[in-house]
Amino acid sequence: MSEPGIESIDRVVAARRLPEFASLLELALTAQARARAPYSGFRVGAAVLAGSGAMYPGCNVESASYGATICAERSAVVGAISAGEMTIRACVVVTPTADPSSPCGICRQLLAEWGPDVEIYAASSEGTGVYAARLSDLLPLAFWARNLKDAAPSSRAQDER
Ligand code: THU
Repeated sequence: MSEPGIESIDRVVAARRLPEFASLLELALTAQARARAPYSGFRVGAAVLAGSGAMYPGCNVESASYGATICAERSAVVGAISAGEMTIRACVVVTPTADPSSPCGICRQLLAEWGPDVEIYAASSEGTGVYAARLSDLLPLAFWARNLKDAAPSSRAQDER
């Protein structure tokens, strides 16, 4: 993969960059084994590093009503916030693909709540390759809370009629 800002590294280099990488990867791999993916057969694990320094795992949980499925990354974020964390610093996601796959659009959008510098590491349970990026590289020109604040007064007025 050669996209601006997205680096193809390996687990050793990732651990040098982010001291918590090895622990996050271990948590994500354990969570991946617990994934509930009876429909897709695509098991995903994730772990986030929160502002306090604590780490939280997540896995995908699928529903027969497919749209109700939650991805591993969002499930990890939900765990962190439910535990009282206020910020997310990094996310490691593990997919069962030879080439790591990076977070889906909805997960990128949720992670964007914690700013453009959230570190994303996409790893694989089948190999040692890792893609490293910042959230802003994966979701340029994201929709932020600031956009809501910038709404023209006339937009609000219409709903208040
Ligand atoms: N999935 C994730 O957990 N994270 C992603 O970033 C991409 C997709 C899950 C959702 C679904 O359970 C399965 O992978 C196939 O899309």
